Amino acid sequence: MLDDVKKVLIDEGALQKRVKELAIQITEDYRDKDLLMICILKGGVVFTSDLMKLINLPLAIDFMAVSSYGSSTKSSGVVRIQKDLDQEIEGKDVLIVEDIVDTGLTLHYLIENLLSRKPASLKVCCCLDKPERRVADIHVDYVGFNIPDEFVIGYGLDFAEKYRNLPYIGVLSENVYSK
Ligand code: IMP
Ligand code: MG
Repeated sequence: MLDDVKKVLIDEGALQKRVKELAIQITEDYRDKDLLMICILKGGVVFTSDLMKLINLPLAIDFMAVSSYGSSTKSSGVVRIQKDLDQEIEGKDVLIVEDIVDTGLTLHYLIENLLSRKPASLKVCCCLDKPERRVADIHVDYVGFNIPDEFVIGYGLDFAEKYRNLPYIGVLSENVYSK
């Protein structure tokens, strides 16, 4: 599997250290709130599970799965909900937890959609941010790492549904595309 990774961008130790810092910050910010973390499937699942274990609050979690229409290389901004939440979020302090914000079109849609359900507050936490690629004007409240415009895999992120299980963030090797 290592042959498929061109280089390790963020190793396991750096990820765990940063996740701990974010958890401390979130614990502080949500101390007197009713925190509901919404994990965006599937990419957000590894980050969410590490993060939630380190947040020292009686939080709840729920899941949403979304997909963008259009080719994989060009985000259209048209998003379809494949799995919706199991619960109402009115009056809750909602934190969206995503793997990566790229163009921001997916999150833009999600934010608008969730705001219409009248949460008490709505914030966004992303493990990775590729600011160079941003199209939609969205605010991300908690960012793990800013990364350059390279296609990355691991720690929840996939290429053709594979590599989500890597414990680090790696750059995909070019020879995988041509396989
Ligand atoms: P956006 O709507 O362009 O911000 O797309 C966000 C989604 O695209 C993420 O939730 C990922 O599923 C996917 N994505 C964007 N960049 C990468 C990457 O480098 N590797 C794997 N998936 C990515
Ligand atoms: Mg995703």
